[in-house]
Amino acid sequence: MAMVELDAVHREYPLGTTVVHAVRGVTFVIDTGEFVSIVGPSGCGKTTILNMIGCIDKPTEGSVRFDGTDTRTLSDSAAADLRLKHIGFVFQSFNLVPVLTVRENVELPMMLAHSRPADRRRVRDHLIDAVGLSEFASHKPGELSGGQRQRVAIARALVNGPRLVIADEPTANLDSETGNSVLDVMRRLNREEDVTFVFSTHDPEILQYASRIIRLRDGRVEEDSRAPAPQTDGVER
Ligand SMILES: Nc1ncnc2c1ncn2[C@@H]1O[C@H](COP(=O)(O)OP(=O)(O)O)[C@@H](O)[C@H]1O
Ligand SMILES: [Mg+2]
Repeated sequence: MAMVELDAVHREYPLGTTVVHAVRGVTFVIDTGEFVSIVGPSGCGKTTILNMIGCIDKPTEGSVRFDGTDTRTLSDSAAADLRLKHIGFVFQSFNLVPVLTVRENVELPMMLAHSRPADRRRVRDHLIDAVGLSEFASHKPGELSGGQRQRVAIARALVNGPRLVIADEPTANLDSETGNSVLDVMRRLNREEDVTFVFSTHDPEILQYASRIIRLRDGRVEEDSRAPAPQTDGVER
């Protein structure tokens, strides 16, 4: 079933007296349950597209639909509400709150969503366990490695039961082995928690994890291909 539909999407940014044409007519559909990688060199439009999929930004031409709703019809507060309920975000720089523990960081979006305390504890502990950080639940981000921090961010992205997780270059600040283990966790959660993932990368090594690769070049789709089978089995965690 279609979750996200981009139809002839353009995004232009005014820049001084000129215009940057960041996305130039992009069309694709992401179905429920997919694990999609958006790939391409710096400046090709990955972040711009992820922001439109995540209802943070809107196209200047064409349409983006989330669950059938054209995002242009959403007010800012309706878009914020949709994001809080249905979309989780993972960032290149982790964006954890340094003074909070792992537990508190993971719980934060549930507090914003006014979840009941008992539900918060249950979901939080389940997800901290699912990303392999139970032993570190009382630690603060500064006491964790980069890969561990990114796994905290992944647990946090999942706490409100989103249908979609968007990760913008989640492995860019990690060495390749750590990056692989983070992708491995994402791929497992994609299956076990039944969450759709869209992530961007410019690292070819990461691509073995994607079940579908959308390759961008200069704001256009250069390739959109599905991999036969993800090679995740046997990878050490
Ligand atoms: N807010 C902005 N104002 C002007 N130009 C922008 C803005 N955001 C992105 N761009 C430009 O749009 C193009 C695509 O950027 P981006 O989506 O960030 O690419 P990527 O994430 O693939 O590196 C680049 O040329 C970039 O400089
Ligand atoms: Mg980017």
